[in-house]
Amino acid sequence: MKVTVIGSGNLGKSIISGLASSELFDPKNIMVADASPENLEIIKEQAGVSVTSNNVEAIKDSKWIILCIQPRILEIVLDEIKEHLRDDQILISTVTGVTTDEINEFVPNNKVIRAMPNTAAIQQQSMSFICANNNDDEDVEFVRKMFGTIGKAIIIEQRLMKPATVLGASGTAFFLRFLRALTQGGVQMGFHPHEAQEIVAQVAIGAASLIEDGTQAEVEVDNVTTPQGCTIEGLNAMEHNGMSSSVIKGVMAAYDKISNINGQ
Ligand SMILES: NC(=O)c1ccc[n+]([C@@H]2O[C@H](COP(=O)([O-])OP(=O)(O)OC[C@H]3O[C@@H](n4cnc5c(N)ncnc54)[C@H](OP(=O)(O)O)[C@@H]3O)[C@@H](O)[C@H]2O)c1
Repeated sequence: MKVTVIGSGNLGKSIISGLASSELFDPKNIMVADASPENLEIIKEQAGVSVTSNNVEAIKDSKWIILCIQPRILEIVLDEIKEHLRDDQILISTVTGVTTDEINEFVPNNKVIRAMPNTAAIQQQSMSFICANNNDDEDVEFVRKMFGTIGKAIIIEQRLMKPATVLGASGTAFFLRFLRALTQGGVQMGFHPHEAQEIVAQVAIGAASLIEDGTQAEVEVDNVTTPQGCTIEGLNAMEHNGMSSSVIKGVMAAYDKISNINGQ
């Protein structure tokens, strides 16, 4: 089975590397097309895949066609390939904010599946969301497996893509801002900034690992909160200053904003 990736920029490179090192595709069955010769050279070297600058040539033999191009390029690429697509070829779009129905306006006879990873794809640690008009389709599950090669991937209803963008994509920035604040606290207590950041990053990874099996976060908070100790002192001071409320308001402000943008 063959796959074509159109666009080998920031995201495309991560996906190609994930697929090439997985058992889903042999690297020789991965074809990559890009307008940038430099990007093609890098990915050919890194992942041992075939490359071309010709999008039409690239899609010829593949069942799966993953679009990793900027939204402003999407229409150009769809116009370019639509006459050359067979009906059994499946388009997977990573393009932010463009619905499956909008893509189907260009390619009415092809199945379209959306995938939304986040920037941690580059570390193979993405939280990715997959959706289609019919999520029960076995091809949707296969796409989930594809994006499972760059982190965790779940199938969601398309109506949840905007909330997923806030939690899964903006969420990265929310966490990093919180980590920066913790780091600043560490510096004030005497650590050098690079030491404080290293500590805070590992603590965050460790904290996340404690709830990975579904354990409620508050159970682990209780585990570290000695009565009358320093943790509860710190937590309560943060809550008196509106930490939880501020985070929830931030999430909802981001959601209000994205809800007013067209598409899903
Ligand atoms: N980065 C992420 O983590 C992330 C997360 C979620 C969703 N997304 C979505 O993924 C898509 C790609 O993002 P990205 O950050 O990977 O973009 P990017 O780094 O700009 O990569 C896009 C690549 O496509 C190439 N390209 C431009 N025109 C082309 C054409 N006509 N045919 C074939 N290739 C062409 C570009 O070449 P040139 O540089 O020469 O123009 C570039 O190498 C976007 O729609 C974005 O919304 C990205």
